[in-house]
Amino acid sequence: MVCSLIESLFSMPGAMEKIGEKLKVRNFICQTFIFSYIWGLGGNINEDSREKFDVYVQSQFDDCADARLPPGQDLWYNFMDTQTHRLTSWQKLMPEYSYDKKVPFFDILVPTLDTVRFGYIMERLLYVGHPVLVTGDTGVGKTAVAKNVFNGLEKSGLFVAVTMNFSAQTSSVRTQEIIELKLERKKKTLFGAPVGKKVIIFIDDVNMPKLEIYGAQPPIELIRKRCYCTWHLVAL
Ligand SMILES: Nc1ncnc2c1ncn2[C@@H]1O[C@H](COP(=O)(O)OP(=O)(O)OP(=O)(O)O)[C@@H](O)[C@H]1O
Ligand SMILES: [Mg+2]
Repeated sequence: MVCSLIESLFSMPGAMEKIGEKLKVRNFICQTFIFSYIWGLGGNINEDSREKFDVYVQSQFDDCADARLPPGQDLWYNFMDTQTHRLTSWQKLMPEYSYDKKVPFFDILVPTLDTVRFGYIMERLLYVGHPVLVTGDTGVGKTAVAKNVFNGLEKSGLFVAVTMNFSAQTSSVRTQEIIELKLERKKKTLFGAPVGKKVIIFIDDVNMPKLEIYGAQPPIELIRKRCYCTWHLVAL
């Protein structure tokens, strides 16, 4: 996940332009690594451990001036702004909220620091084809954040977004059918995304399928190969 985040940040439009002198390039690379390291490792720890991780990482890079973190801010305060090549407050990415009467109540997403942060990391990872698994207590906003990211990616025109809800009754055959329906048949047994697009699949409530006789969950087995744990979402 650390490597995927670095790859994704470096490939953002403009990231490698106008950096200026060599020293700044070094600084940008070091800070991008730190940001990716914090999220790659720290994103998946629970709330109790976050403070310990913060204390540990704050002093870890003291010897390297380029990687030093801005003092007095917690680890999760900044994101790597690839336009200015500096760690910048997440506030910069926070959209203004305005109430729209036409949006159904359950589709309303009020931007918070966490919807912005988790949404951004999820989006960056999906851009480089890295699977994302979100865990967290019920009602913390996992579905809301993922839906918002998927809507945004679909609007970009680069992705075909598919949403599936797993339930106790979901079977592996049905799972395969739903995924294949969204793909184009390239050859007799080869399916793929429409030309120029990527298919991204959001599976909600992935833990739900009931266990089979040996204790496995067949729909999950089908997708397991492409799934890695990335972070733990806590209350918004
Ligand atoms: N930032 C937000 N703005 C508006 N509504 C939100 C926001 N975050 C969560 N909600 C609302 O809170 C409720 C619970 O959120 P959500 O369904 O995303 O939680 P969840 O983590 O997916 O829970 P579960 O594990 O039970 O599926 C939903 O009605 C959702 O619309
Ligand atoms: Mg949910």
